[in-house]
Amino acid sequence: MARRKLIAGNWKMNGSLAALAELDGIAAAARAAPGVDVAIAVPATLIAPAVARVSGIAPAAAREPGLAIGAEDVHPAEKGAHTGCISVGMVKEAGAVFSIVGHSERRADCHETDQQVKAKAEALRRGGLGAILCVGETLDERDAGRAEAVVTGQLAASLPEDAAADWLSIAYEPVWAIGTGRTPTVADVAAMHGAIRARLRALIGQEADAVRILYGGSVTGDNAAELLGAGDVDGALVGGASLTAAKFVPIVEAGAALA
Ligand code: PGA
Repeated sequence: MARRKLIAGNWKMNGSLAALAELDGIAAAARAAPGVDVAIAVPATLIAPAVARVSGIAPAAAREPGLAIGAEDVHPAEKGAHTGCISVGMVKEAGAVFSIVGHSERRADCHETDQQVKAKAEALRRGGLGAILCVGETLDERDAGRAEAVVTGQLAASLPEDAAADWLSIAYEPVWAIGTGRTPTVADVAAMHGAIRARLRALIGQEADAVRILYGGSVTGDNAAELLGAGDVDGALVGGASLTAAKFVPIVEAGAALA
């Protein structure tokens, strides 16, 4: 089945109002590549100004084709006594149309469990937002030959109810490849994405064939074409190289060339 490529950036705890100028070039590249979907997740404080910058108008227009702006995390509850947390309704009001959930940095830094990740994804679905759900093994787990079991286990335990391709993507991000400049071989990536697809089929049937599976971890303009061309790789989740248009646009163009 043909799946549109999704090239998504993740600014993590980087960026500023001044840095939003980078979105101009990224949005222009997105408009020039109608065959791929392009998205950037930014820190919560930057969602509204990012949406205003790329749309030039009110947040309600954020679903227009071009560059989609999203959040990096959400809390599963609608509201309440959760100091410092941000709800789906809040990021939606700011103009976000999706959020990342279960990034390995949150699983590690904030001790997020598969159960919590699942609840966050379900909150996004209830709110009408998209989700990019991250899974990935550590180097110890890979060295022990457990990478596939760990990743598919995370997937099974954190997959939301009503998982469907129109709102959910999966991102395979080996923890040891994030921000390190190291990547798995293309064969390893293809094998893992195939294993994720097979597990998804077991869990949600043929809908699994429509769900996009992104690769993340040290994706750059130099390796994007090779990684995006691997079997069952339907896009990329990009950290460091999403911070500037100069580094991110070549990744968008690599995706467009395969569309
Ligand atoms: P990286 O980060 O591209 O800087 O390795 C990827 C990610 O954590 O999503």
